[in-house]
Amino acid sequence: MSDETILIDVAHDGIAIVTLNRPHALNALSLQVMRDLTAAAATLDAEPAVKAIIITGSATAFAAGADIKEMADRTYSEMDAADWFGGWSAMSAVRTPLIAAVAGYALGGGCELAMMCDIVIAADTARFGQPEITLGVIPGMGGSQRLTRAIGKAKAMDLCLTGRTMTADEAERAGMVSRVVSADQLLDQAIQLATRIAGMSAPAARMVKEAINRSFEVSLAEGLLHERRLFHATFATADQTEGMAAFIAKRPPQFIDR
Ligand code: CAA
Repeated sequence: MSDETILIDVAHDGIAIVTLNRPHALNALSLQVMRDLTAAAATLDAEPAVKAIIITGSATAFAAGADIKEMADRTYSEMDAADWFGGWSAMSAVRTPLIAAVAGYALGGGCELAMMCDIVIAADTARFGQPEITLGVIPGMGGSQRLTRAIGKAKAMDLCLTGRTMTADEAERAGMVSRVVSADQLLDQAIQLATRIAGMSAPAARMVKEAINRSFEVSLAEGLLHERRLFHATFATADQTEGMAAFIAKRPPQFIDR
């Protein structure tokens, strides 16, 4: 059994696949996973050849939450001093599009990790939930915040107060998941999606991500202004010149990511 908490595959053209690798614990997110995954995401983000990053788990579990065994005996002082889960904020700094490809359990921190990604594509076997309340705690990696923004107050309250899970279909209807596919197609579909994104202009993709994520932080007027300024900024890129010229010439664009 490999003792690496994550496996990284950059063999695909412009795409990196990061696979959670703690099968004995249903990919529970230990502090080591947090360190390894955030470090890998930062490294891949700095690599110009990587234009989309897929984060995935196993057929059984994307991740069944933060590692309960690692936390169970901690005191308040220890959790506070360590700022437990604080390191996950590094995922927000990743500018490369992140795709969560989810099969099986995505519970607690697993659901929260999926929501740290820009797009969630789910197998029909996926089950999402925030069961922390059944452990006498509450979400700590963004569940109360990102889930509420993703699916609204009523459903977020329902999930976080009861600890129940939702199916991939319910998650798609609720707006958390962008696509549901059959389990045997999950990785292929995620790669196809990532390949399409990787074929776009990287600066434009970064700007899309920045603009959409900004909408969760600022007023509508500020967000619209920010979007318009980013739009203007695309006119400083070679890819804008190429993209529009290609449209007019009725040919596919050849983006150069500048
Ligand atoms: N942490 C640590 N170990 C876990 C784990 C977790 N979150 N989830 C599963 N495991 C371990 C089990 O302890 C078990 O290990 P052993 O074989 O050594 O006993 C192994 O993974 C397989 O799990 P089960 O035997 O329980 O498998 P199952 O098929 O019967 O049940 C499950 C699957 C319903 C997902 C069940 O494992 C479960 O309920 N897991 C916990 C889910 C949960 O509560 N997640 C929230 C964690 S807290 C959190 O995430 C806080 C936050 O906001 C970040």
